[in-house]
Amino acid sequence: MKIGIITSGGDAPGMNVAIRAVVRCAIKNGMEVYGYKEGYKGILENNFERLFNRSVSGLLNKGGTVLGTSRVPEFLNASVQQKAANNLKDFGITHLVTIGGDGTYHGAWELDKLGINTIGIPGTIDNDVSLTDYTLGFHTALNTINDAVDKLRDTSSSHKRCAILEVMGRNCGDLAVHAAVCGGAELINTPENKLKKEEVIESLRKMKNEDRNYALFITTEKMYDNLTDFAHEITEKSGFHAVPTVLGYIQRGGSPSSEDRLLGTQMGIYAVDLIKEGIHGVGVGTRSGKIVHNSFEEIFTTKRKKSKLYDLLKQVS
Ligand code: F6P
Repeated sequence: MKIGIITSGGDAPGMNVAIRAVVRCAIKNGMEVYGYKEGYKGILENNFERLFNRSVSGLLNKGGTVLGTSRVPEFLNASVQQKAANNLKDFGITHLVTIGGDGTYHGAWELDKLGINTIGIPGTIDNDVSLTDYTLGFHTALNTINDAVDKLRDTSSSHKRCAILEVMGRNCGDLAVHAAVCGGAELINTPENKLKKEEVIESLRKMKNEDRNYALFITTEKMYDNLTDFAHEITEKSGFHAVPTVLGYIQRGGSPSSEDRLLGTQMGIYAVDLIKEGIHGVGVGTRSGKIVHNSFEEIFTTKRKKSKLYDLLKQVS
């Protein structure tokens, strides 16, 4: 049996761990594994190499993805999807493991419908995939943000400032709300918990009046047209000197955390088990500590629940 594997979309720490697990476990079960380069692009260009046990040595501590990744917007076109399915079929690939986020899953679902038995492993720092508690890379990115928040606290408390930290997440506030709990932020603005500019300013003004020395405000990316301008406005109106920091792509790099190493290994092995059982058209997930799977259809039709951490945050802020 020939299986293909790709990583696609934004890279995430733990992708390499999952590649390693899939390759080693599949080989143990008599399968041949082919790694396609840069996600769906590699499938469209027939750019792949056979992977052996040795090909995936030394990957547990390596961030990014050794297969490379890309975003392929044209993969939304049916003719492009058909071309990819044909390329895979012509080479005899019957199964495909795709590691990535939302966009990757959409492509995976289409390929499954076109006769390539596909399994998704959720790999994105955003944690924006339904029916899994966590995606690969989320915890490592969170550790990076925690480190930044701790450092911002040192400097903002010394200068009595309001530190504004913008974190990634695309349309999902999970990184921000987890970081707020872990780092003790006073204010948080996310797609699930939007605060008007006036509300932010008013809260900060209150804190200043209560003699608070400094404040930490974490916001998900894309919530403001111009964060620097908003920081100026806060400075003018709240009494706090506000300083913005955009953490950016640093969040995507780094050696996978223990959680991501464990999850990547478990999910990779589980994906191969699904292949052995003849199950496809599904995404792997983790729920309450167990590795599970759901059909792509269920994943796309189930709205992600708002994190319970918002309630928890209210209790301690
Ligand atoms: O999906 C992961 C992510 O890092 C998002 O948090 C962010 O919005 C996006 O990717 C950035 O994408 P790109 O690498 O294409 O700039």
